[in-house]
Parts: sequence; structure tokens; C-alpha cells
Amino acid sequence: MDKNIVLIGFMGSGKTSVGKRLSMNLKREFIDMDDFIEKREGMSVTEIFEKRGEAAFREMEAELCRRFAVPKGKIIATGGGVIKSAENTENLKKGGVIIYLSSTPERIAYNLRFDNTRPLLAGDNKEEKIAELMAAREGLYNSCADITIDVSELNLEETLKEIYRALDM
Ligand code: S3P
Repeated sequence: MDKNIVLIGFMGSGKTSVGKRLSMNLKREFIDMDDFIEKREGMSVTEIFEKRGEAAFREMEAELCRRFAVPKGKIIATGGGVIKSAENTENLKKGGVIIYLSSTPERIAYNLRFDNTRPLLAGDNKEEKIAELMAAREGLYNSCADITIDVSELNLEETLKEIYRALDM
């Protein structure tokens, strides 16, 4: 069975939009981890953080990553924090090729300027929070990635082209 194509990267880097398009173009099943968890729990990620706590959400993510350790040709958009756990990273790498959509704090802040669905960026000083969290996570994204695409100046079409080129498709 083909390897999964796993998209990692910071919140707002475009994992979901890119994943949907890859799924359409390659005719492969698409799973957005946040979306999957929200539907199953009948709650938004924000509500899960509020009512059950972040640790419970992270366990739900980990459980999904265990399933994705098996290559099944899926396109998977992860949540931005998935790389915080070495177990998750190992499982995702077992089942797939990992594509890191790398971006800048400025572009992320622009992409998320109207967004209020990310509990970790809620409240004041969104830009500072993005910059701090990104600095703390950059090394993890880089060490997990098989392929890195700098999407900070790319639109969706350009990003897809770069991905196909990197995957030799
Ligand atoms: C998170 C990213 C979010 C979501 C949750 C936590 C993170 O996913 O899983 O809000 O820790 O970076 P997106 O990257 O899809 O926004």
C-alpha cells in the first residue's frame, strides 16, 4: 500500500487547504485530524480544550497517530502541535512521507487575522504568541520533515506544484 502523505506545520500554514486539494487531485482519502476529532467528540477544539483540557486533546491526537503508523495511501492534515510528541512523530513517519509547510510568523499572522478558532492563540498579542510558539517548535518541525516547502510566499497552486515536484509526481 502507498505511504500516507502527512502535512505538518504551524497553525494557519495551509495544511487543510493543501490536503483537500491533494486528496481531490490524487483521488486519495483525506483526513484532517482536528476535524476528525471535532466530529467524533461533537465539540470544537476550543471546547475540548476548555471542557476536557489540552492533555485530553493531545491524547486524542496521539491515538489517531497510532492508527496512521500503517501506510494506507491517505492524505493527512495534522494539527500544528502534533510534533510535540516523539511518539506521534515516530508513528506518522512509519506510515508516511512527512511534508512540512514552513512559513513565517508574519504570513501566519496574516492568514489567521480573522481567526478565533485556535485556543493557543486566543486573547491579546496574537502576533507575539505566534512568534514565540513558532520559535519553540521550529526545530521539531524540521527534524520530523522528510520534505520542507517554504510556503511563506506561495499561493495554493504554487504550493501544490512544489509538492508534486518534491514527490516526483
Ligand atoms: C494546535 C493546532 C491546531 C489544533 C489545536 C492546537 C497547536 O491545529 O490542533 O488548536 O498546538 O498548534 P491547526 O494546526 O490545524 O490549526
